[in-house]
Amino acid sequence: MNLMIKHGGIFICPLCEGPLSVYGDRCQTRCSKCNQVFASENSIPLLFWPQKWEGSGADVTDAIKSFYEKTPFPNYEDLDSSYSLREKAKKGIFARLLDEQIPYGSMVLEAGCGTGQLSNFLGMTYGRSVFATDICLNSLKLGQEFKEKNKIENVAFLQMNLFKPVFKQGIFDLVICNGVLHHTANPFLGFQSISRLVKKGGYIIVGLYNAWGRIPTDIRRFIFSFSGNNFKFLDPRLRTKDVSETRKNTWFQDQYKNPHESKHTIGEVLNWFDKSGFEFVNSIPKLTSRLFEPTARGNWLDHLFLQFEILVSFGKEGGFFIMIGKKK
Ligand SMILES: C[S@@+](CC[C@H](N)C(=O)[O-])C[C@H]1O[C@@H](n2cnc3c(N)ncnc32)[C@H](O)[C@@H]1O
Repeated sequence: MNLMIKHGGIFICPLCEGPLSVYGDRCQTRCSKCNQVFASENSIPLLFWPQKWEGSGADVTDAIKSFYEKTPFPNYEDLDSSYSLREKAKKGIFARLLDEQIPYGSMVLEAGCGTGQLSNFLGMTYGRSVFATDICLNSLKLGQEFKEKNKIENVAFLQMNLFKPVFKQGIFDLVICNGVLHHTANPFLGFQSISRLVKKGGYIIVGLYNAWGRIPTDIRRFIFSFSGNNFKFLDPRLRTKDVSETRKNTWFQDQYKNPHESKHTIGEVLNWFDKSGFEFVNSIPKLTSRLFEPTARGNWLDHLFLQFEILVSFGKEGGFFIMIGKKK
């Protein structure tokens, strides 16, 4: 059964927060409080609603949305199948550990899923429900196309602004938000918005650019902009032979031509956890193989070493770090 229909009671209107009912084969939705009807395209409910910002109203959502509509990230290889996606995901330790350790029956949300590789991979396992959301419709269409072609049952794609969630609070066992908040106008506000969707005892996983780890990328961006985009071999991902030109271009645009990004530290995210009722569980780097088993949060010196570790990897993963928290 379609996941949206199966879990019909969990949706709220992004406009007035009234109950949202799902109907029809293509998952159209209607709010029973304000009567707003939301269309769908390629069976993807179009539930994006803009966030009104106070004061100067400097929002970056429109710029980011149109950027990713042109260059959906991370995109698929032409010959990708459920088999090759599974093989690739298993080589990346994080996705494999997640797949192995998410408990049976879990409700999972990916906020900012891009083209949905991780959600499609997690949705291949029976007995869990994965909701993959993003503001970018072209990315969602690629994810949905892959899902339909490979008959992946346990994932549903929805267009949603993470500042205007379409889910009731406390619904999810796990919320994943990788590489997204640093492309928003207010990452902490974004974190607070998605953290409300986690149930008590559930987990949140956030991946962000690190203030130290991003230095090599910043240097390369500077070199590229002054050399007319020459010397691309300086980026480890662009040197790789087994990645298609489409995916390399997508990476180049995402890393070096993005209209907006911010950088963060381990201490800052720990502060977000403290303010939002989460306890620290784990992080990458420093991941122990039990993703959801608590480890020590460390002191400022530990954090300095970890961030130095990201820096000396020369931004192989774009100077990225991941933190896992558990809702108290
Ligand atoms: C760098 S991509 C990361 C995609 C995916 N999480 C991954 O790790 O491959 C960033 C994604 O965040 C999405 N995004 C940015 N702002 C968003 C918002 N306010 N709500 C939902 N998604 C957003 C973009 O559309 C884009 O697909």
